[in-house]
Amino acid sequence: MAEFVLPKNSKVRKGRHYAAKPGAKKVRTFHVYRWDPDTGENPRMDSYEVDVSNTPMVLDVLLKIKNEIDPTLTLRRSCREGICGSCAMNINGGNTLACTKALHDLPEGDIKIYPLPHMPVVKDLVPDLTHFYAQYASIKPWLRTQSAPPDRERLQSPEERKKLDGLYECILCACCSTSCPSYWWNPDRYLGPAVLLQAYRWIIDSRDEDTGARLDDLEDPFRLYRCHTIMNCTNACPKHLNPAQAIGEIKQLMVKRAV
Ligand code: SF4
Ligand code: SF4
Ligand code: FES
Repeated sequence: MAEFVLPKNSKVRKGRHYAAKPGAKKVRTFHVYRWDPDTGENPRMDSYEVDVSNTPMVLDVLLKIKNEIDPTLTLRRSCREGICGSCAMNINGGNTLACTKALHDLPEGDIKIYPLPHMPVVKDLVPDLTHFYAQYASIKPWLRTQSAPPDRERLQSPEERKKLDGLYECILCACCSTSCPSYWWNPDRYLGPAVLLQAYRWIIDSRDEDTGARLDDLEDPFRLYRCHTIMNCTNACPKHLNPAQAIGEIKQLMVKRAV
């Protein structure tokens, strides 16, 4: 019988505990994944008791920890508005944006925070998205045309423009792809929901003139067809987009052009 053994350095151990400061009023405990490749040590879960009186969002808590309790905590963030996608992480078992996740939306009790799952970790809460971005680049996410450029801009009717709604809002946070079981098992060959939603965004753009080539690029048992409509992606999207539907639309276009 096959036996699976995790390497010793992959086991997460109990880390340090930081007690609340005296006088703290509204205390909640956060268990945060920590891993520093430079130390050679195993990952650990540090726990922080934080006064959350003035920290409405999970990102506010993490920045409070970094600024006031433990400056070694590493995380990625920029806009704190749900626009840049850089603060995506796994909070209490769900992939989401730390900056738009309100504490009052989390159930009572301790809160667990990990980096996005099934991605290599750079440090602490920072995943390595190099492969994800390379897959995004592979769909050539820009307007591709053969006709001569017009004197002014390439026009769209309001109806044509409307087709981009629910697609252009994607911030490439990777919450969906890293919650997709098909992507977990085949990240090297399956493009995953985020990149496929972006691919559809260009396929459906009335100004793009390379639709056939874009569909040809996806006509592959892995790149597109590894999606088994499990819907984790749509449930995870913090922007309330529907990557599973976009994938379904691409599959329908494939069928339409084949008959
Ligand atoms: S619907 Fe497709 S892309 Fe979305 S989680 Fe399921 S398998 Fe992954
Ligand atoms: S579809 Fe949603 S979850 Fe996926 S990358 Fe775009 S914004 Fe993030
Ligand atoms: S900090 Fe930009 S999306 Fe959260």
